[in-house]
Amino acid sequence: MVALVTGGAGFIGSHLVEALLDRGYSVVVLDNLSTGRRENLAGVDGRIAFHRESILAEDLKHVLRDVEVVFHLAAQVNVRRSVEEPAYDLKVNALGTLNLLEQARDAERFIYASSGGAVYGEPRYLPVDEEHPTEPISPYGASKLAGEKYVQLYGYNYGIRYAILRYANVYGERQDARGEAGVIAIFLERLRRGEPLLVFGTGEQTRDYVYVSDVVGATLLALEREGVFNIGTGIETSVNQLVEIISEVTGTTPEVRHLPPRSGEVHRICLSTSRAEEELGFRARVRLREGIARVWRSLG
Ligand SMILES: NC(=O)c1ccc[n+]([C@@H]2O[C@H](COP(=O)([O-])OP(=O)(O)OC[C@H]3O[C@@H](n4cnc5c(N)ncnc54)[C@H](O)[C@@H]3O)[C@@H](O)[C@H]2O)c1
Repeated sequence: MVALVTGGAGFIGSHLVEALLDRGYSVVVLDNLSTGRRENLAGVDGRIAFHRESILAEDLKHVLRDVEVVFHLAAQVNVRRSVEEPAYDLKVNALGTLNLLEQARDAERFIYASSGGAVYGEPRYLPVDEEHPTEPISPYGASKLAGEKYVQLYGYNYGIRYAILRYANVYGERQDARGEAGVIAIFLERLRRGEPLLVFGTGEQTRDYVYVSDVVGATLLALEREGVFNIGTGIETSVNQLVEIISEVTGTTPEVRHLPPRSGEVHRICLSTSRAEEELGFRARVRLREGIARVWRSLG
């Protein structure tokens, strides 16, 4: 089976590439290395076909030849940047997805990485299930949602079998400290350098942190089903709690500095994963303490 992973040189994509190789897939990676790094794929060099190109490229025939399954993870993932450059964000996330869909019409399956933290907006209730209204409060949320709509449209019009995965805040080894949910990566990196942790607002804002191997597992399970699925833990953790856990895990007392709150970010969120549990057999396994300990160890 030949699988294409767009964004395969990125944080989640590179873990997915490894998991696919482990399961015997032939893997093709399409990544323009805008935020991804070739080093993320160092462990699989020689075992994948790598194309340094954009998902916006007019002709992707040479990339898509023989591809049976598409995992579309390439995206502009930075919420801040989406606020500053909304047109660029829209171009990569919506037009890029449309361009890929148009050229990948012959693929058997299309798996789209969406964002549960961004497409719902400020939750009306918690945990947020897939039926919750989608009212993004950032250009990033709007562009990821637009991508979802095109995926569904291509399913309807051309029969592409798809799954849309709305990931919670993913963390793990190799996460770039500039990413969407980079707070754990950023905090651990700053701690390693002896720098204070910067908390925006009160620190009472919550997120649903899910470990990367759990997300990769869910993404593979989604090959068997169609539909829209939240992928998270269902657990809300505040930034202040995160600082406490990091302090315990690392055996340090981090200095914390508070900054004004940032726009485009929801106050609280956690995702209901009942549907993914029932239909995909998904359940997050790695607890936050354990996951943070693993990332901390990986930093040396
Ligand atoms: N990290 C999270 O917490 C999180 C949460 C929800 C959803 N997601 C989604 O998961 C996916 C992967 O995110 P990530 O955290 O691994 O980010 P990442 O930045 O590490 O990976 C994105 C990859 O896409 C590549 N890319 C960007 N623009 C491209 C283009 N025009 N053409 C080809 N490649 C391009 C980048 O070089 C990078 O390797 C994204 O679709 C993101 O929206 C991530």
